[in-house]
Amino acid sequence: MNYTKRTHTCGELRKEQLGQTVTLTGWVDKRRDLGGVIFIDVRDRYGKTQVVFGPQYNEAVHAQAKDLRSEFVISVTGKVDRRPEGTDNANIVTGEIDIIASELTILNKAETTPFPIEDKVEASEEIRLKYRYLDLRRETMQKNMMLRHRMYQITRRYFDEHGFVEVETPVLMKSTPEGARDYLVPSRIHHGKFYALPQSPQTYKQILMVAGMDRYFQIVKCFRDEDLRADRQPEFTQIDVEMSFADEIDVQTIAEGVTQRFFKEIKGIDIQLPLPRLTYKDAMEGYGSDKPDLRFGLKFAQFNDLVVEGGFKVFAENAKKGGVVAGFTVPGGAAFTRNQMDNLVDFTKSLGVGGLAYIKWTEKGLESAIEKFLGKDILQSICDRAGAVQGDLVLLVSDSWNKTYSTLGTLRLDMAKRLNLIDETKISLLWVVDFPMFEYSEEEKRYVAMHHMFTAPKDEDVAFLDTDPSKARARAYDLVWNGSEIAGGSIRIHSSEMQSKIFSLLAMTEDEAKAKFGFMLDAFRYGAPPHGGIAFGFDRVAMLLTGSKSIRDVIAFPKTASGTSLMDDCPSEVDKKQLDELHIRIK
Ligand code: AMO
Repeated sequence: MNYTKRTHTCGELRKEQLGQTVTLTGWVDKRRDLGGVIFIDVRDRYGKTQVVFGPQYNEAVHAQAKDLRSEFVISVTGKVDRRPEGTDNANIVTGEIDIIASELTILNKAETTPFPIEDKVEASEEIRLKYRYLDLRRETMQKNMMLRHRMYQITRRYFDEHGFVEVETPVLMKSTPEGARDYLVPSRIHHGKFYALPQSPQTYKQILMVAGMDRYFQIVKCFRDEDLRADRQPEFTQIDVEMSFADEIDVQTIAEGVTQRFFKEIKGIDIQLPLPRLTYKDAMEGYGSDKPDLRFGLKFAQFNDLVVEGGFKVFAENAKKGGVVAGFTVPGGAAFTRNQMDNLVDFTKSLGVGGLAYIKWTEKGLESAIEKFLGKDILQSICDRAGAVQGDLVLLVSDSWNKTYSTLGTLRLDMAKRLNLIDETKISLLWVVDFPMFEYSEEEKRYVAMHHMFTAPKDEDVAFLDTDPSKARARAYDLVWNGSEIAGGSIRIHSSEMQSKIFSLLAMTEDEAKAKFGFMLDAFRYGAPPHGGIAFGFDRVAMLLTGSKSIRDVIAFPKTASGTSLMDDCPSEVDKKQLDELHIRIK
């Protein structure tokens, strides 16, 4: 097809080009037919420009423009003109000019789209995902994709400047599930055998350190067959990093540096380094989360000493057997109605604890159902320690350390949202450090690694591996932004003896360990340097930088919550022939 190629983009023309004859190509954004004159906005990735078709300028072209509809693809040529006084559009960068059309080619027609291509989309997410190519034409989505692009460039520049080498690692690898389920790919050549898609390149990047690569990074897809949430996708992108001869501070400093660049180059915000650090214990005991959002307070206090000898059996017995009685003050919460309190108690119970006790400090004084057991003085001491004043409400939970704090953590977030305490202009960035090595899985009746099984224990805690593994802390760290874990990493084990020991603590037999990770244990025998690393959740960072509510808004072709791609309809059935070749029969 013969058509005039563009001389400018649709976001480029200003008063400086007045009088020039230019050609734009793009999509018809809006069309207004005012009888005599037709106005259209022509749109491309760079912006929108208004084009005017009038019989007084060019009768043939004006007649042609009558056929134009939204989303037609056109090439239009004309003279750049100053918009008539009072008709400037301050909302678009080209708002001072328009183009008086003298030539028009319709490059392609478009059917009426299932939803209008505009920023305020009202279509359901299903429709948007089914017609993703239309959804991606919207300005917000284009901006999100551009931001991702800038993140890739900042990442590559930063890591290159700091001596990191980008190495690609395999997408077809050995299945060694731990944490999430693997996505499996059957082998055609090796009947009954499978590749797995990597949950992360963890083992490869460690092997690269043994290989002397010293500093590695990769922008890499990871695949995890796990339950999806607003900030999770089955395939997602990491900035994966590994460093030799590095300790926690070295890795954290590199990770802080790229975070600072993202803020500076994308948002124009200066982040002060180093970032604050909070131990896992303090994070849990203060905020009930290993990824606390510190844009607001509602910090917890612990009351064991006040209740252990008191008359409230539930509290006293729990405190005596090593549990925790803790809580926090809800400012102004004394005004909650009976009904609101009942709902809060039900909600708390639904989180898996016995109940929720509370003290209201009204103008009449302290009011609480537990007053008859504990007495006014103890209630007052609890309120004082919790920092409550008249008009406040103190919430109290009594259970095991874990349950008490995680329940309070959920209540804290719920209260912050309910009372609108989250200042969206604030930035809360911090490291959470000193995670436990293991958590006990009731379901599997064994320890599982809290970060992953290649994580080194803290030197001073190594003895606990033999006495009480639950007490051993790991050299692991997470980077948290506004209550979201944006990166996680650790210093690794680099001796095959220690690695074997951890495998056995994770209830892996020697044979199993050999079958799954023999290559790593082997590699560690041939001179493995001390090393450590981290991985950023790229999509999560993009989501936060764009202020998106869903991770799907920063991924070009995401999956739904049930793991499907609505546009190309996958997963889908395959031919019998394909299955036969793979020796697979569907039950
Ligand atoms: P981890 O499992 O903590 O560590 O993952 C690193 C970061 O990736 C992001 N993330 C996800 N983002 C979107 N969808 C998901 N399903 C998803 N799962 C994780 C999070 C997380 O902080 N190999 C180690 C890193 C290391 O030790 O170096 C790892 O993968 O933001």
